[in-house]
Amino acid sequence: MEETESIDEYILKHIDDEGDYLHALYRDTNVKLLRPRMASGHLQGRMLKMFVKMIRPKQILEIGTYSGYSALCMAEGLEEGAMLHTFEINDEQEDFTRPWLEGSPYAKKIKFYIGDALVLVPRMDVVFDLAFIDGDKRKYLEYYEMVLSKLSNGGYIIADNTLWDGHVLETPHSNDYQTIGIKRFNDFVATDERVEKVILPLRDGLTIIRKK
Ligand SMILES: C[S@@+](CC[C@H](N)C(=O)[O-])C[C@H]1O[C@@H](n2cnc3c(N)ncnc32)[C@H](O)[C@@H]1O
Repeated sequence: MEETESIDEYILKHIDDEGDYLHALYRDTNVKLLRPRMASGHLQGRMLKMFVKMIRPKQILEIGTYSGYSALCMAEGLEEGAMLHTFEINDEQEDFTRPWLEGSPYAKKIKFYIGDALVLVPRMDVVFDLAFIDGDKRKYLEYYEMVLSKLSNGGYIIADNTLWDGHVLETPHSNDYQTIGIKRFNDFVATDERVEKVILPLRDGLTIIRKK
Protein backbone atom coordinates (compact mmCIF):
# COMPACT_ATOMS: atom_id res chain seq x y z
CA MET A 1 0.00 0.00 0.00
CA GLU A 2 2.76 2.44 0.98
CA GLU A 3 4.65 1.58 -2.18
CA THR A 4 1.55 2.24 -4.28
CA GLU A 5 1.08 5.60 -2.63
CA SER A 6 4.65 6.65 -3.18
CA ILE A 7 4.50 5.61 -6.84
CA ASP A 8 1.32 7.68 -7.21
CA GLU A 9 3.07 10.66 -5.65
CA TYR A 10 6.08 10.11 -7.86
CA ILE A 11 3.90 10.08 -10.98
CA LEU A 12 2.14 13.29 -10.01
CA LYS A 13 5.47 15.03 -9.47
CA HIS A 14 6.68 13.98 -12.91
CA ILE A 15 3.70 14.85 -15.10
CA ASP A 16 2.08 18.15 -16.08
CA ASP A 17 0.53 20.16 -13.30
CA GLU A 18 -3.27 20.22 -13.25
CA GLY A 19 -3.21 24.02 -12.79
CA ASP A 20 -4.80 26.26 -10.16
CA TYR A 21 -8.33 26.20 -11.59
CA LEU A 22 -8.67 22.40 -11.67
CA HIS A 23 -6.93 22.14 -8.30
CA ALA A 24 -9.54 24.49 -6.82
CA LEU A 25 -12.38 22.57 -8.51
CA TYR A 26 -11.09 19.29 -7.11
CA ARG A 27 -10.94 20.79 -3.62
CA ASP A 28 -14.42 22.26 -3.95
CA THR A 29 -15.72 18.90 -5.20
CA ASN A 30 -14.28 17.22 -2.11
CA VAL A 31 -15.66 19.84 0.28
CA LYS A 32 -19.17 20.24 -1.12
CA LEU A 33 -20.23 17.12 -3.02
CA LEU A 34 -21.16 13.58 -2.13
CA ARG A 35 -18.96 10.86 -3.63
CA PRO A 36 -16.05 13.16 -4.64
CA ARG A 37 -14.00 10.12 -5.67
CA MET A 38 -16.08 10.09 -8.84
CA ALA A 39 -14.10 13.09 -10.16
CA SER A 40 -11.28 12.12 -12.52
CA GLY A 41 -8.48 13.94 -10.68
CA HIS A 42 -4.95 14.96 -11.64
CA LEU A 43 -3.49 11.88 -13.40
CA GLN A 44 -6.60 10.77 -15.29
CA GLY A 45 -7.36 14.37 -16.18
CA ARG A 46 -3.93 14.88 -17.78
CA MET A 47 -4.39 11.55 -19.59
CA LEU A 48 -7.76 12.66 -20.98
CA LYS A 49 -6.27 15.93 -22.19
CA MET A 50 -3.42 13.99 -23.84
CA PHE A 51 -5.90 11.68 -25.60
CA VAL A 52 -7.74 14.71 -26.96
CA LYS A 53 -4.47 16.18 -28.24
CA MET A 54 -3.64 12.85 -29.91
CA ILE A 55 -7.07 12.19 -31.44
CA ARG A 56 -7.81 15.84 -32.36
CA PRO A 57 -11.61 15.35 -32.28
CA LYS A 58 -13.95 17.99 -33.67
CA GLN A 59 -16.85 16.85 -31.47
CA ILE A 60 -16.61 15.10 -28.09
CA LEU A 61 -19.43 13.49 -26.15
CA GLU A 62 -19.21 12.97 -22.39
CA ILE A 63 -21.77 10.90 -20.48
CA GLY A 64 -21.58 11.91 -16.80
CA THR A 65 -20.38 15.46 -16.08
CA TYR A 66 -20.56 15.36 -12.26
CA SER A 67 -18.46 18.33 -11.03
CA GLY A 68 -16.99 19.04 -14.49
CA TYR A 69 -13.40 17.98 -13.82
CA SER A 70 -13.00 15.60 -16.78
CA ALA A 71 -14.98 17.94 -19.06
CA LEU A 72 -12.55 20.78 -18.36
CA CYS A 73 -9.53 18.53 -18.93
CA MET A 74 -10.83 17.37 -22.31
CA ALA A 75 -11.85 20.90 -23.32
CA GLU A 76 -8.30 22.05 -22.51
CA GLY A 77 -6.99 19.73 -25.23
CA LEU A 78 -9.50 20.76 -27.91
CA GLU A 79 -8.47 22.69 -30.99
CA GLU A 80 -10.08 25.95 -32.06
CA GLY A 81 -13.64 25.43 -33.35
CA ALA A 82 -14.05 22.01 -31.72
CA MET A 83 -16.75 21.31 -29.11
CA LEU A 84 -17.38 19.13 -26.07
CA HIS A 85 -20.98 18.12 -25.31
CA THR A 86 -21.31 16.90 -21.72
CA PHE A 87 -24.44 15.35 -20.17
CA GLU A 88 -25.46 15.11 -16.53
CA ILE A 89 -28.69 13.36 -15.50
CA ASN A 90 -28.76 14.76 -11.94
CA ASP A 91 -30.35 18.22 -12.09
CA GLU A 92 -29.20 18.96 -8.52
CA GLN A 93 -25.65 18.98 -9.88
CA GLU A 94 -26.25 21.99 -12.12
CA ASP A 95 -25.86 24.76 -9.51
CA PHE A 96 -22.43 23.49 -8.58
CA THR A 97 -21.10 22.53 -12.00
CA ARG A 98 -22.36 25.21 -14.39
CA PRO A 99 -20.46 28.11 -12.75
CA TRP A 100 -17.24 26.06 -12.80
CA LEU A 101 -17.67 25.30 -16.52
CA GLU A 102 -18.80 28.79 -17.49
CA GLY A 103 -16.11 30.51 -15.42
CA SER A 104 -13.27 28.56 -17.01
CA PRO A 105 -11.07 29.67 -19.93
CA TYR A 106 -12.69 26.86 -21.99
CA ALA A 107 -16.31 27.89 -21.47
CA LYS A 108 -16.87 28.52 -25.20
CA LYS A 109 -15.81 24.97 -26.05
CA ILE A 110 -18.28 23.27 -23.69
CA LYS A 111 -22.02 22.66 -24.02
CA PHE A 112 -23.49 21.39 -20.75
CA TYR A 113 -26.82 19.55 -20.87
CA ILE A 114 -28.94 18.42 -17.95
CA GLY A 115 -30.78 15.18 -18.73
CA ASP A 116 -30.38 11.53 -19.60
CA ALA A 117 -27.77 11.09 -22.32
CA LEU A 118 -29.60 7.97 -23.49
CA VAL A 119 -32.62 10.14 -24.31
CA LEU A 120 -30.98 13.38 -25.46
CA VAL A 121 -27.99 12.23 -27.53
CA PRO A 122 -29.98 10.16 -30.10
CA ARG A 123 -31.95 13.35 -30.90
CA MET A 124 -28.78 15.31 -31.72
CA ASP A 125 -27.58 15.86 -35.25
CA VAL A 126 -23.89 15.56 -34.34
CA VAL A 127 -21.29 12.96 -35.29
CA PHE A 128 -18.75 12.50 -32.51
CA ASP A 129 -15.07 11.65 -32.93
CA LEU A 130 -14.51 10.84 -29.27
CA ALA A 131 -16.86 9.79 -26.46
CA PHE A 132 -16.06 9.48 -22.77
CA ILE A 133 -18.46 7.04 -21.09
CA ASP A 134 -18.53 7.72 -17.34
CA GLY A 135 -22.22 7.52 -16.34
CA ASP A 136 -24.25 4.82 -14.58
CA LYS A 137 -22.25 1.58 -14.53
CA ARG A 138 -25.46 -0.45 -14.93
CA LYS A 139 -26.03 1.11 -18.35
CA TYR A 140 -22.60 0.87 -19.97
CA LEU A 141 -23.75 -1.50 -22.69
CA GLU A 142 -26.69 0.77 -23.56
CA TYR A 143 -24.38 3.79 -23.72
CA TYR A 144 -21.96 1.81 -25.87
CA GLU A 145 -24.50 0.91 -28.57
CA MET A 146 -25.95 4.41 -28.57
CA VAL A 147 -22.51 6.02 -28.78
CA LEU A 148 -21.30 3.67 -31.55
CA SER A 149 -24.25 4.73 -33.69
CA LYS A 150 -23.24 8.39 -33.29
CA LEU A 151 -19.48 7.89 -33.72
CA SER A 152 -17.44 8.57 -36.87
CA ASN A 153 -15.55 5.68 -38.45
CA GLY A 154 -12.13 5.67 -36.83
CA GLY A 155 -13.63 7.48 -33.83
CA TYR A 156 -12.76 6.59 -30.24
CA ILE A 157 -14.62 5.68 -27.06
CA ILE A 158 -12.97 5.90 -23.65
CA ALA A 159 -14.91 4.04 -20.95
CA ASP A 160 -14.04 4.71 -17.31
CA ASN A 161 -14.08 2.36 -14.29
CA THR A 162 -13.93 -0.79 -16.38
CA LEU A 163 -11.87 -2.68 -13.76
CA TRP A 164 -14.31 -1.54 -11.04
CA ASP A 165 -11.90 -1.75 -8.12
CA GLY A 166 -11.01 -5.31 -9.12
CA HIS A 167 -14.59 -6.56 -8.71
CA VAL A 168 -14.59 -7.68 -12.35
CA LEU A 169 -12.62 -10.72 -11.15
CA GLU A 170 -15.39 -11.76 -8.78
CA THR A 171 -18.78 -13.40 -9.25
CA PRO A 172 -21.11 -10.54 -8.32
CA HIS A 173 -24.11 -10.90 -5.99
CA SER A 174 -27.33 -11.07 -7.96
CA ASN A 175 -28.26 -7.54 -6.80
CA ASP A 176 -24.84 -5.96 -7.50
CA TYR A 177 -26.04 -4.40 -10.73
CA GLN A 178 -23.03 -2.11 -11.13
CA THR A 179 -20.51 -4.96 -11.20
CA ILE A 180 -22.86 -6.97 -13.40
CA GLY A 181 -23.15 -3.99 -15.78
CA ILE A 182 -19.41 -3.45 -16.06
CA LYS A 183 -18.70 -7.17 -16.57
CA ARG A 184 -21.39 -7.43 -19.23
CA PHE A 185 -19.90 -4.43 -21.01
CA ASN A 186 -16.34 -5.79 -20.84
CA ASP A 187 -17.38 -9.25 -22.08
CA PHE A 188 -19.37 -7.77 -24.96
CA VAL A 189 -16.66 -5.36 -26.11
CA ALA A 190 -14.01 -8.09 -25.91
CA THR A 191 -15.68 -10.03 -28.73
CA ASP A 192 -17.12 -7.11 -30.71
CA GLU A 193 -15.60 -7.27 -34.20
CA ARG A 194 -16.72 -3.72 -35.03
CA VAL A 195 -14.02 -2.24 -32.79
CA GLU A 196 -10.40 -2.47 -31.67
CA LYS A 197 -9.92 -2.27 -27.91
CA VAL A 198 -7.37 -2.14 -25.12
CA ILE A 199 -7.74 -1.79 -21.35
CA LEU A 200 -5.35 0.50 -19.48
CA PRO A 201 -5.04 -0.31 -15.76
CA LEU A 202 -4.96 3.42 -15.00
CA ARG A 203 -6.83 4.45 -11.82
CA ASP A 204 -10.02 2.31 -11.96
CA GLY A 205 -9.44 1.01 -15.49
CA LEU A 206 -9.89 2.83 -18.79
CA THR A 207 -10.99 0.95 -21.90
CA ILE A 208 -9.92 2.61 -25.14
CA ILE A 209 -12.07 1.54 -28.08
CA ARG A 210 -11.64 2.44 -31.75
CA LYS A 211 -14.51 2.05 -34.21
CA LYS A 212 -13.20 0.35 -37.37
C1 LIG B 1 -18.41 9.12 -12.21
S1 LIG B 1 -19.44 10.52 -12.29
C2 LIG B 1 -18.70 11.47 -13.60
C3 LIG B 1 -17.33 12.01 -13.25
C4 LIG B 1 -16.73 12.94 -14.27
N1 LIG B 1 -16.86 12.42 -15.62
C5 LIG B 1 -15.26 13.11 -13.98
O1 LIG B 1 -14.48 12.24 -14.41
O2 LIG B 1 -14.87 14.07 -13.32
C6 LIG B 1 -20.90 9.89 -13.05
C7 LIG B 1 -21.99 10.91 -13.31
O3 LIG B 1 -22.85 10.39 -14.33
C8 LIG B 1 -24.15 10.86 -14.11
N2 LIG B 1 -25.07 10.02 -14.90
C9 LIG B 1 -25.51 8.78 -14.61
N3 LIG B 1 -26.32 8.32 -15.60
C10 LIG B 1 -26.36 9.30 -16.56
C11 LIG B 1 -27.03 9.42 -17.81
N4 LIG B 1 -27.78 8.42 -18.29
N5 LIG B 1 -26.87 10.57 -18.52
C12 LIG B 1 -26.10 11.57 -18.04
N6 LIG B 1 -25.45 11.51 -16.83
C13 LIG B 1 -25.56 10.38 -16.11
C14 LIG B 1 -24.29 10.75 -12.59
O4 LIG B 1 -25.33 11.54 -12.09
C15 LIG B 1 -22.89 11.19 -12.11
O5 LIG B 1 -22.86 12.56 -11.80
